[in-house]
Amino acid sequence: MSARERFDEAYYRRHYRGPDRVHSASQVGRLAAGVAGLADWLGVELRAVLEVGAGPGYWRSWFRRRRPAVRYVSTDVSPFACERFGHLLRDISAWRPRGTFDLVVCQGVLQYLDDRRAARAIANLAAASRGLLYLEAVTRHDLDEVLDAERSDTAIHARTGAWYRAALDPHFVQVGAGLWAARSAGIPLYELEGAPVHSTLRRQSSAASAGSQAARFGRTGLQES
Ligand SMILES: C[S@@+](CC[C@H](N)C(=O)[O-])C[C@H]1O[C@@H](n2cnc3c(N)ncnc32)[C@H](O)[C@@H]1O
Repeated sequence: MSARERFDEAYYRRHYRGPDRVHSASQVGRLAAGVAGLADWLGVELRAVLEVGAGPGYWRSWFRRRRPAVRYVSTDVSPFACERFGHLLRDISAWRPRGTFDLVVCQGVLQYLDDRRAARAIANLAAASRGLLYLEAVTRHDLDEVLDAERSDTAIHARTGAWYRAALDPHFVQVGAGLWAARSAGIPLYELEGAPVHSTLRRQSSAASAGSQAARFGRTGLQES
């Protein structure tokens, strides 16, 4: 089935209106506020944000209201969503943006791609990231243990969390709660802030952060503003 057929008007009606909706604009607004707040805390200034698979555009609405100076690029593969909600028509498995972004948002998208396309999409997300990635992708575990199958779209590629971690690990350090820090950004994390750090990685990450303006020191200064 093509993206045009799959992500049509009926898809957005079912998942964003009525009793089966996945989330509301205000729920996503609270998530966006949390992510933007953590970015501030970690010393990542949000000047440019990329969202892929933006659907109804709830993240963009929050940024437009609360962070109007941010340059926001929203994309989707669905011709219907692009026309209705005003995104660029882009397939993240085939498109690599020219520039880089302080925050990349990819919520509820990768489970729709087969392994080969999902791996390419993660490489493209990584190439676009110079700060943080917010990622939500439903896994096999989530299908079995977390989601309400009656209300969720279960016609997806359910992979293991380990599959995603292996694809993300060369590019990102896991911060937690869906946030990943681009390794190239050298964001200094306290040991217990993120995923377990192995000694080689710790040495690499200290070397990267030594030259970074976001040194731990600077982060405490952020509380003053
Ligand atoms: C479950 S919706 C999530 C929408 C939004 N991110 C949210 O969380 O509300 C999945 C979205 O991913 C888009 N999508 C699926 N495959 C994509 C791809 N290869 N590239 C870009 N967007 C894609 C769909 O068109 C759809 O809008």
